[in-house]
Amino acid sequence: MVSPPRRVRRALLGVGTLVVVLLTAIAGGVGWIWATADISTVGTEFTRPLAIPPLAESTVDADGTRVFSLDMRSGTTAFEPGTDTETWGFNGSYLGPTLRASAGERVRVRIANQLPEASTVHWHGMHLPAAMDGGPHQMVEPGATWTPEWTVAQPASTLWYHPHPHGATEDHVRRGLAGMFLIDDAAASALPLPKTYGVDDLPVIVQDLRLRGDRLDGSHTIFRDVGFLGDRTLVNGTLAPYQEVGDELVRLRLLNASTARIYTFAFDDARPFALIGSDGGLLERPATLDRVRLSPGERAEIVVRMRPGERTVLRSERLDAGLDFWGNRFAGGDDRFDILELRAAPTLRESAPLPAALVPASTPDGSDAVTERRFDLTLSGINGTAMAMDRIDTTVTRGTTETWVVRNTDGMPHNFHVHDVQFRVLDYDGGAPPPALTGPKDTIFLPPNTTARLALRFDGPADPDTPYMYHCHLLWHEDLGMMGQFVVVEPGQQAGTPHGHAH
Ligand code: C2O
Ligand code: CU
Ligand code: CU
Repeated sequence: MVSPPRRVRRALLGVGTLVVVLLTAIAGGVGWIWATADISTVGTEFTRPLAIPPLAESTVDADGTRVFSLDMRSGTTAFEPGTDTETWGFNGSYLGPTLRASAGERVRVRIANQLPEASTVHWHGMHLPAAMDGGPHQMVEPGATWTPEWTVAQPASTLWYHPHPHGATEDHVRRGLAGMFLIDDAAASALPLPKTYGVDDLPVIVQDLRLRGDRLDGSHTIFRDVGFLGDRTLVNGTLAPYQEVGDELVRLRLLNASTARIYTFAFDDARPFALIGSDGGLLERPATLDRVRLSPGERAEIVVRMRPGERTVLRSERLDAGLDFWGNRFAGGDDRFDILELRAAPTLRESAPLPAALVPASTPDGSDAVTERRFDLTLSGINGTAMAMDRIDTTVTRGTTETWVVRNTDGMPHNFHVHDVQFRVLDYDGGAPPPALTGPKDTIFLPPNTTARLALRFDGPADPDTPYMYHCHLLWHEDLGMMGQFVVVEPGQQAGTPHGHAH
């Protein structure tokens, strides 16, 4: 082999050096992104009293309908004193009031959109007619109003409401549009559980945010394929919150209202607590746990015992969901947050012991299922197709039970939320569901390579033309099209054509 002329060799050497330098720079950059990608607010000082969303005012019509009113507005919020940040909220500048109604009650909510953009209000976890659901087919234009009404027909539970405009849900929720909707019923009210709102029964709406100066920064940082992840957490819109409590037993209604972040809630002293409820209501009996994981949209009701004068911190620990080390870090799984400090008074009111039994199961066991369907989750869509507003993906028959096998076949975390129904988890990751998944659920976390089998009963009114949604509740994934549409039809009826306007 003839060696190349010296000039060529020198040039090649130069290129080689350049490549090495570039690769080192890239590796250094990636290393730096990696090293700075985990966040911890553990050790934070809790400096602000927790805001408790007010209970929404309502009036009762002559026919007994309970009427609420929600205005979607933009405004400013001082997350930190002296800095006004532009945010969105219901009846205020951030989040919204807690709506509360009883099973059997007829409710009507007048929604007025005073935002500069079209949006919707969806009743997450609510069993109701599809046209009242507030999904992407029920858009409310700026300046317009929308007044859904329905009869509450489900057990006592912690539900919530938030916008659902196709393609913009992450943005609208992250700006502050969310609130709780509590359902009461006679069975739950008869139980000796903590139930004084804002006293021993606390709404805990957990979100993450990124404040940059006076601005909420919603950008997605590099490699974050789950969507927006903030670097601090809020509870009920309060940064670094503490809550003084005066009862031995305190009930926390935990709602993960973050757009992508998965929390693993535990106390800083690892104390056990009782899990009493999940997304759609109370469990059959309390379960003693020392941590509970909630992906976006999920709820858990827990009861924690306090000793006089002590403080304990509700924390979010690292995610332990079998993700690879790269995936875990960039999904926020290595992050830890101090979420909320509970400060017990020097003397505490005595609380009744928790009952051993709560309520009978309200979800189907799947034994009468007429159909089994499969839903494979990937970022490109559910069962390989991205959401289309004018395509009905699934048609179910009113009055029947089905089993749905949902698999995460992707390399990143997803979850799965179904509108209108609460389902039972029949099995999870090849085994019996863990205690936190034994109650009524409408949203379930699925780490990569995990399968869940769900039993769902569709007993609402049929409407072949108006779809309900099922989707990943990591809201950026939903916005990208990880969503499908189902309609409930009468036996023998065909799916119709979705109407209502789409954006
Ligand atoms: Cu909480 Cu379809 O959403
Ligand atoms: Cu929903
Ligand atoms: Cu997803």
